[in-house]
Amino acid sequence: MYGEGSYGKVYKCKVVSKNQGENSEGKGPLSKTKVKKGFVGDARKKRANKRLTVQKGHREEAWNMKRVIQVNKVMKIIEFSEDRLERDIDKFEKEVSIMKTVQHAVEEQGDVLPCVQVYDDGIVRSVRSVRSVFGFIVMSMFTQDLFDTVKDDNSGRYGINCSMKYGIGYPQMIIIFTDIAKHIKILHDNRYAHNDVKLENVMIIKKEGQWRAALIDFGLASTIVDQRINSLAGTTAYLPPEINNHRYSIRPLLNIKVDPHDVWAYAVMLIEVFVNPRVQLPIGHSDIPDLRRSTEQKEDCPPVVKNLILLILKYRPESRISIDDVLEILSAEESGTLQEVLDRIAERDVGLASLPPSSDTSSPAKPWWKLWGG
Ligand SMILES: Nc1ncnc2c1ncn2[C@@H]1O[C@H](COP(=O)(O)OP(=O)(O)O)[C@@H](O)[C@H]1O
Ligand SMILES: [Mg+2]
Repeated sequence: MYGEGSYGKVYKCKVVSKNQGENSEGKGPLSKTKVKKGFVGDARKKRANKRLTVQKGHREEAWNMKRVIQVNKVMKIIEFSEDRLERDIDKFEKEVSIMKTVQHAVEEQGDVLPCVQVYDDGIVRSVRSVRSVFGFIVMSMFTQDLFDTVKDDNSGRYGINCSMKYGIGYPQMIIIFTDIAKHIKILHDNRYAHNDVKLENVMIIKKEGQWRAALIDFGLASTIVDQRINSLAGTTAYLPPEINNHRYSIRPLLNIKVDPHDVWAYAVMLIEVFVNPRVQLPIGHSDIPDLRRSTEQKEDCPPVVKNLILLILKYRPESRISIDDVLEILSAEESGTLQEVLDRIAERDVGLASLPPSSDTSSPAKPWWKLWGG
C-alpha cells in the first residue's frame, strides 16, 4: 500500500513479470500478487511509522480490479458505506470529475505544473464474496506527500530542516508552495473549493531536476456559489477559527455559507513548514497575535513567506488575501517588485485592517446539543 487517508486506500500498481504469468501490459492471469507492506498516511496518530500489513480483503480487491496494472501508477480504492451508498457514489464521481477538470486545465495552460493524471476509474460491485461496493481510480504515481517530506523518521521531528535530505531547501520549498497555490487557483477558477488542503494532500515529484507539487484528494471538495461554499468540511487542524467555532453549532444545520478556507489552510502549511512545525492546531482567534509575532521574529524564514502568512493570518475572512494575491506576491518576489504589490494590497485593505474582529467570528457559538438542552 502506498498511502491511506481517512477515506481511501492507495496501492501501488505493479507489473507482474512474465515468468509470474503476466505480460507487461498487465493482461493475463495474475498468479502471484505482491502488494508491499506500506506506511499508512494521513491520520497523524497512525503515522507513528507503524508498518501495517495490507488487510487481506483489500489486497484481493486491489488485484481483482486490475483494469490497468502498470508501473508508475497507483490505484485509490474507496469502499462505500452500505447505508450511504448513493451519497458516497455521488461524492466519488465528483472527486473523479474534479481530478479530470484539473488535469484538463493544466494541459490547457501548457504548464509544466504536475497534476494527477486519471487513467481509469470505475465502480465495482460485489467482487467475489465481498458484498461491498468500491470505487477505484488509477492515477499517476507521485514520489511522496509533503508531510512525509518534512518529517524525519528517526528523530520524529519535522519542518524544513528535515526536507534537506531530499535536497529541498528554501528556494525549492517556495517552488513547491507556488505549485500548491497554482492548484488552488485552478480549483477556485473552476468554482471548486478543495476544503482539505493539508500537508498529506500535497504530493511531490521531481521534474527536470526540480521538485514540483500537486494537490490531490478532492473527496471533500465543494462548489463555490457567489464566492461562498456550503460545506464546513475539512480537517479540523486546518480550519480557520470562524469555522471551528461553529463546527458543532447550529450553523451546519442551517446550511450557512462560509468563505472558501483553502487559503487559510495554505497559511497553516506555511507555518508548519517554515515557522513552527510544532504549532498548536487548530489556530484559534486568541492564537493569532502570538503566531503573527513569532512569524515576524522568525529569523530564517524568507520574507516572502512571512508576508504571505501575515496577510492570511487575520481574524476577518474578508481581510485575508485571495489565492490570486498569493500568486501575485510569489511572482513579484521573483521579479523584484514585491514591495509594490504589498503596498497595493495594504492600501486596498486599509479600511478592513483597522476594524476589530466581527462578532460573528470572535465568540464561540453555543454547541447545538445545548440548544436543545442535551
Ligand atoms: N498519486 C499518488 N501517488 C502516490 N501516493 C499517493 C497518490 N495519491 C495518494 N497517495 C498517498 O495516499 C494517501 C491517501 O490518499 P488520498 O487521496 O489523500 O486519500 P484520502 O481521501 O483517504 O485522504 C496520500 O496522503 C498519499 O500519501
Ligand atoms: Mg487525503
